[in-house]
Amino acid sequence: MQRIPKETSVNLAVDLGGLAMKNPVTTASGTFGAGMEYHDFVDVAALGAVTTKGVSLHGWEGNASPRIAETPSGMLNSIGLQNPGVAHLKEVELPWLASIGATAMVNVSGHSFDEYVAVIEALYHMDKLGLEGALIRAGGSPVAFSLGGLITPEVFDVNFEKAFGDIQGAYPAINREMARLVRARHPQVKWLNREDDLGLEGLRRAKLSYYPDLLLEKYTARKPLD
Ligand SMILES: Cc1cc2nc3c(=O)[nH]c(=O)nc-3n(C[C@H](O)[C@H](O)[C@H](O)COP(=O)(O)O)c2cc1C
Repeated sequence: MQRIPKETSVNLAVDLGGLAMKNPVTTASGTFGAGMEYHDFVDVAALGAVTTKGVSLHGWEGNASPRIAETPSGMLNSIGLQNPGVAHLKEVELPWLASIGATAMVNVSGHSFDEYVAVIEALYHMDKLGLEGALIRAGGSPVAFSLGGLITPEVFDVNFEKAFGDIQGAYPAINREMARLVRARHPQVKWLNREDDLGLEGLRRAKLSYYPDLLLEKYTARKPLD
């Protein structure tokens, strides 16, 4: 049952560098997700802001287990900033926070300065990239989603495919639904370009299980400084 905060006539509103907050209370990043799981118990919109879990560009799987250890004085954790990536935040969590009237403060992660910048740019400009996608929910909660866009009239580029790996069938289901959606919306498309798997063994195996027609060589281009 949700706890309803008491009304007060005291104005606790603060302006944090241009972010209007109802009060100066926010959550510690990583301890509260984006608040969805807590909303049954506490009115998340009553917080000054929800500081969301650290988000990176393409999502990170986090560290290998064990990632948690008990100590006499508490718990040590080293999760490795596991997160589903900025597209999920933008498509699922931020709209949900907005729909309940909550204020969001986004915590950004990256391995390089450029990745930090790319995450922030993605947050600002995602709509302009003309991306479209699919989301699968189970029991009301998101379990898988995919995002992509046309790069030529005949090639649809799937930028992200994310699912909870422990939910059996979630990955095949989102891949199938995305392919169906592309077929329905863009009947002229002949190729699905399923992007980068970072060469990670599990992801590469999963992608090969779809018997791709072609694996493209990747190159990095660098512009020399003048
Ligand atoms: C389970 C867990 C997950 C966390 N995830 C993040 C995270 O995603 N990003 C981040 O900046 N900090 C993360 N933190 C750090 C907390 O935000 C941090 O502990 C909190 O701000 C309190 O600050 P302090 O530990 O310096 O006192 C995490 C902490 C815990 C316990």
